[in-house]
Amino acid sequence: MAGIKVTGWGIAVPEKVVTNDDLTATLDTNDAWIVERTGIRERRVGGTTSGLAIEAGQKALDKAGLTPADIDMVVLATTTPDAMVPGTATTVQNALGINGGAFDVNAACSGFVYGLVTAAGLAAVGARRILLIGSDTLTRITDWDDRSIAVLVGDGAGAAVIETVEGESDLLSWNLNADGSLKHLLYCEHGGFLVMDGKEIFRKAVRVVVESAEKAMADAGLGVDDISLFVPHQANLRIIQAACQRLGISEEKSAIVIDRYGNTSSASIPLALVDAIDNGRVKPGDTLLLSGFGGGMTWASAVLRWGG
Ligand code: UT7
Repeated sequence: MAGIKVTGWGIAVPEKVVTNDDLTATLDTNDAWIVERTGIRERRVGGTTSGLAIEAGQKALDKAGLTPADIDMVVLATTTPDAMVPGTATTVQNALGINGGAFDVNAACSGFVYGLVTAAGLAAVGARRILLIGSDTLTRITDWDDRSIAVLVGDGAGAAVIETVEGESDLLSWNLNADGSLKHLLYCEHGGFLVMDGKEIFRKAVRVVVESAEKAMADAGLGVDDISLFVPHQANLRIIQAACQRLGISEEKSAIVIDRYGNTSSASIPLALVDAIDNGRVKPGDTLLLSGFGGGMTWASAVLRWGG
C-alpha cells in the first residue's frame, strides 16, 4: 500500500493583530488574566476561511515546487465553512485552479489530524498528491461580548502538500476518536455563537490528549524519548503544559504559538508546525507527535516522520 510524505507547507493569517489590551476596551477582562489563564497575548482577526486557505495552500504548493495540475484532491479541515453549501474546499480548488476532488472535513479542532489521516487513506487508494489545509475563522462565530470565549479565539490557516511514496509511509501511526455524548461541552448552533464549558473541556482535553498520544506512540513502536517535537492543538497553554508533564515531554520539545494566534481550531497544529520548521526546529528524520482535541468531542493523534 502507498504511504505518504509531506513535501510542502505554508500558512496564512490575517494582518489585523488584536492584543489583549485591545480587548479590554469592550470586555471586562485584562491582559494579566488572559496571559496567566491561557498563555494568549494576541490573535489575528479577519479574512474568510476560503481566503486564508487559498493563501496557505498556494504557499504549500510553491514550497513543494508543484503546480495546481499536480494535485488530485483538496481536503479542507474546517469548522467554520464559508457557507453551509457548497463545501469551502470547492472554492479553494477553483481559486487555485486544481482539477480534482475537493471536500471539507469537520472534526472541530482535531480537524487537521483527521484530515492528515484522510489524506493518507486517499493516497492508499490511489490519489497521488493531496493538498491538506486546516483553515478556520472562529472569530466569525464568536460573541464579542462574551469574555469567556472572545479572549480565546483567532483566525488562520495552515496547509501541507501530501505526496504518495512507495514503501514505508512517513505517517507512522494514528488514532482518531470521538464521543458525541460530550457535544454539549462545545457547540455552535446555526446562526449562533460558540458556547463552551471551558472547565470541563480543559479537564477532558488533558486526559484525552495524553491517552491518544500514548496510544499513537505505542502503535508506532516508539517511546516518548523518540519524539523530536510535540505539536499540540493550541487551545490553552496550561493544557499543553499539563499534557507535556503527564507525557514526560519537556515544554522545550513542544511547538507553541498560542501566544501569537490564540485558538485557531483546525489551523492551530499546522500554524505551530510551520513555525517550528521556519525556526529550524524540524530536521529530516525527526519524529513529530501531533495531537488535537475539540468540539464533538473529538480527539486525534498522529506520529509523523519528517522527510524534509
Ligand atoms: O479548542 C478546544 C476547546 N477549548 C478549550 O480547550 C478551552 C478549555 N478551557 C480553558 O481554556 C479554560 O477553562 C478557560 C480559559 C476558558 C477559563 O479558564 P479557567 O481557569 O477555567 O477560568 P474559570 O472559567 O474558572 O474562571 C475563573 C474566574 C471566574 O471568576 P470568579 O468566578 O472566580 O470570580 C471568571 O468569571 O475568571 C473569570 N473570568 C475572566 N476574568 C477575566 C472568566 N473569563 C475571564 C476573562 N477575563 N476573559
